[in-house]
Amino acid sequence: MAVLRFPDTDRTIENESEILAELAALGIDYERWDLSRVGADSTAEAVLTAYADEIEELKRRGGYQMADVIDVYPETPGLDAMLARFDKEHTHAEDEVRFILAGRGIFFLNIAGRVASVEVGPGDMLRVPRGTTHWFTLCEDRRIRTVRWFQDTTGWTPYYTGSGVDQGYQPLCFGPAYLGPRVQTTISA
Ligand SMILES: [Fe+2]
Repeated sequence: MAVLRFPDTDRTIENESEILAELAALGIDYERWDLSRVGADSTAEAVLTAYADEIEELKRRGGYQMADVIDVYPETPGLDAMLARFDKEHTHAEDEVRFILAGRGIFFLNIAGRVASVEVGPGDMLRVPRGTTHWFTLCEDRRIRTVRWFQDTTGWTPYYTGSGVDQGYQPLCFGPAYLGPRVQTTISA
């Protein structure tokens, strides 16, 4: 479940329908996908097979050509350089579409002069439209496994704004440790 924050006003939203509404108003697609079809040890091929229908549907909707699965661990070679590419404010010439299978990361979106952060975790699908000013980093455990869709690998090129806005925001993740108090109680009728 994502956590949406507006850091400038210290406003945090954790209710799914409110997150959906706020992100829709910003032009950001957000969905919750069922994770029960795959396990932590599922291969990339098994993930792509398990979600083939959803992956194809998104390809049709967004005009994406390909999808893959990327695994990032703290020990991934070149991780610092990879994170440094994307943790400064930038845009892309294509959509940034992610379905998070494991780990957590935080997208900062700078839209219409207002910064929002979306901490994404397992089961979150997020689509940041091309041209959206944003930056991204991982949470403290530096782990993420995600499905990515893309039109063209050259679209991953970050075009930096050089605004320095990213310097003013700490990538504070609530992280898995924060999940405890958010356990929902089922009330039977
Ligand atoms: Fe990006």
